[in-house]
Amino acid sequence: MAGAFAEAGADLELVDLHKRFPGFTAIEEMNLVIPAGSFFALLGPSGCGKTTTLRLVAGLEEATSGRILIGGKDVTETKPYQRPVNTVFQSYALFPHMSVIDNVAFGLRRRGISDAKGKSHEALALVELDHLSARRPAQLSGGQQQRVALARAIVNRPALLLLDEPLGALDLKLRRQMQLELKSIQDEVGLTFLHVTHDQEEAMTMADTVAVMNKGRIEQLGAPEMLYELPRTAFVANFLGQSNLFTGPVSGTTATSIAVDVEGTRIVVPKARAERHTGTVTVGVRPEKLTLHTEAPEVDSSRNLLGPGRVIDVSFSGVSTQYILAVPGAGTVTVFAQNMGVGPLVADGAEVWVSWSVDHGFGLEDEAPPAPRFDADTDTATIAVQKKRALMSELEEA
Ligand SMILES: Nc1ncnc2c1ncn2[C@@H]1O[C@H](COP(=O)(O)OP(=O)(O)OP(=O)(O)O)[C@@H](O)[C@H]1O
Ligand SMILES: [Mg+2]
Repeated sequence: MAGAFAEAGADLELVDLHKRFPGFTAIEEMNLVIPAGSFFALLGPSGCGKTTTLRLVAGLEEATSGRILIGGKDVTETKPYQRPVNTVFQSYALFPHMSVIDNVAFGLRRRGISDAKGKSHEALALVELDHLSARRPAQLSGGQQQRVALARAIVNRPALLLLDEPLGALDLKLRRQMQLELKSIQDEVGLTFLHVTHDQEEAMTMADTVAVMNKGRIEQLGAPEMLYELPRTAFVANFLGQSNLFTGPVSGTTATSIAVDVEGTRIVVPKARAERHTGTVTVGVRPEKLTLHTEAPEVDSSRNLLGPGRVIDVSFSGVSTQYILAVPGAGTVTVFAQNMGVGPLVADGAEVWVSWSVDHGFGLEDEAPPAPRFDADTDTATIAVQKKRALMSELEEA
């Protein structure tokens, strides 16, 4: 079936792309190569320039400077309808007065392409909706409408398919299901997908390559595992999953590692996993890499040790428990522990230590912004704890 839809996807190249709106720079400078046939996700917070990037690629917005190449061909000056691109927007924008099949066939018919109906049925079969082809969009669920919108884009065989938060309107369960379906459709048709989302889990589960965007720039780009295990900046370390970050001066160096002094505690990171080896450095470790101890453990040089600290919050979520610790000097530390036994391991208020393998740490190229750890504008984990505390004492008083 794949052959019936597209010969192949095309690669997309952005060269020094820059977009300035009157009074606001949306894209600072973008350089990017998306290989043909790949599933590429652009991930970033609201307002970072994701939609603007897609609109530039689709030709709906004019670049201030820079070039856009699709399949090696410069399309910077090409009209939108002459670009081998289709876009699926968050609002599916189906024609309400037309049947599903006519919605899908619309573009083919307008371009005078033969067998529009046959091709449209094939596209609908791909999204498993051919049996509903006679219905109107209003007679479909949100997820089904989404799949029609997808079929309508795929049927045109765009070398490049742009998806702007296409699953944003779906509820969580349907969203997860559509993520898997979209991914398998992409495998089947072999087109190049450029998928925009602010959902990090969605980006990681679907894409071969994820680019994390922040304030009009790509901060880091790579395979999901690579971005997760070795974030290069504080923004990536915190936007993609959670991280424990510690900042201090480099106090010692060996051939293979650096030691950072965090208010008297030595944290060692392999040089190969650290962007910088001198000066003040922010190092980090993911919460699931930490081991919680209720007594000061004996650790050798292959492990880092923090503590003693105190558990300030325990939240049980079934599969795992999240502990938040206050460790003097190091600040707030988050630990995810798998629930191998019954219930949480350690109670709120307990004295604890944490240790982790030196090989699991990473060193960032920038510094984490100084964290006002227990102030009003502190991190979300601590705010949650403070809110819970306040609520509990209110309940006790009542
Ligand atoms: N026509 C415009 N004129 C001025 N500023 C604009 C215009 N379009 C977008 N912007 C600004 O450019 C920035 C990037 O917008 P964009 O729509 O690309 O964000 P986004 O990453 O898609 O965000 P979201 O996740 O909320 O959809 C925003 O700050 C936005 O206000
Ligand atoms: Mg957007």
